[in-house]
Amino acid sequence: MSELSAVQRAFSRAAGRYRAAAGLQRVVSDRLLDLLPDVEAQRILDLGCGIGFASGALAARHPDAQVIAADFSPGMLGAHEAASSCLRVCADAHCLPFADAGLDLVFSSLMLQWCDLPRALSESARALRPDGVVCFSTVLNGSLREIDAAFAAVDQHRHTVAFTEEGRLREVLASAGLRVDCIERATRVEHFADARSLLQSIRDIGASRVPVDGRRALLGRVALLRVYDHLESLRTELGIPLSYELVWVVARKPGLKVESKQ
Ligand SMILES: C[S@@+](CC[C@H](N)C(=O)[O-])C[C@H]1O[C@@H](n2cnc3c(N)ncnc32)[C@H](O)[C@@H]1O
Repeated sequence: MSELSAVQRAFSRAAGRYRAAAGLQRVVSDRLLDLLPDVEAQRILDLGCGIGFASGALAARHPDAQVIAADFSPGMLGAHEAASSCLRVCADAHCLPFADAGLDLVFSSLMLQWCDLPRALSESARALRPDGVVCFSTVLNGSLREIDAAFAAVDQHRHTVAFTEEGRLREVLASAGLRVDCIERATRVEHFADARSLLQSIRDIGASRVPVDGRRALLGRVALLRVYDHLESLRTELGIPLSYELVWVVARKPGLKVESKQ
């Protein structure tokens, strides 16, 4: 791969802090593992594997299969916690280094919100065999709305990813030739002791940069204090809230049609 992008570098920098900061990511990944159907699998891809929350479980569940843990962040792959049970590959979800129809299962937790959704899902569909399964979780529009509202008060830049809507997600799945078996949704609200730790939590999972025009909006000190004030105004007895709209999807690439002889 050529020079690392800002998003790749942000994830690589976060790799050392990721395990401690990624409580929500682990819960979401575990739920996706729960939803996995029984699939006869010899080659499984954990796409956007991060430090490997799911790779070991996938290998344990399919002891005879090869589990490929792929991520475009060398730092995340370097911190992978199940390196001995899988093959680690540095790869971009938009351009996978796998032959057509060579994978039985693509598992991907909380990566797709960073991607060009149509390109990434079509690429996974290309690499899946007919009747192969793709299981993924992602975040939908409305997520991190507290951060959007706080920054809207100080500038016009986006400070979070432009998350997709469920209707659009369904359209993209259909365009990629994937048939939905199950969709589950949930809202999850995390709470923080203060505004600084809320924003730091986003940095600690590597998600502080957004791929909008390749630009990062810089804030002055006064503006940052206004952001803190806005977040502080949302405080409840549990702390300052941060909302996630989560979705888990199990979809299948339709099998080959057998021509019947008349
Ligand atoms: C929020 S983390 C989730 C990691 C892991 N799946 C988990 O559940 O903990 C998102 C991961 O996706 C990776 N990622 C983002 N965009 C990617 C892309 N285009 N291709 C491959 N990996 C990507 C990041 O490097 C990061 O490790």
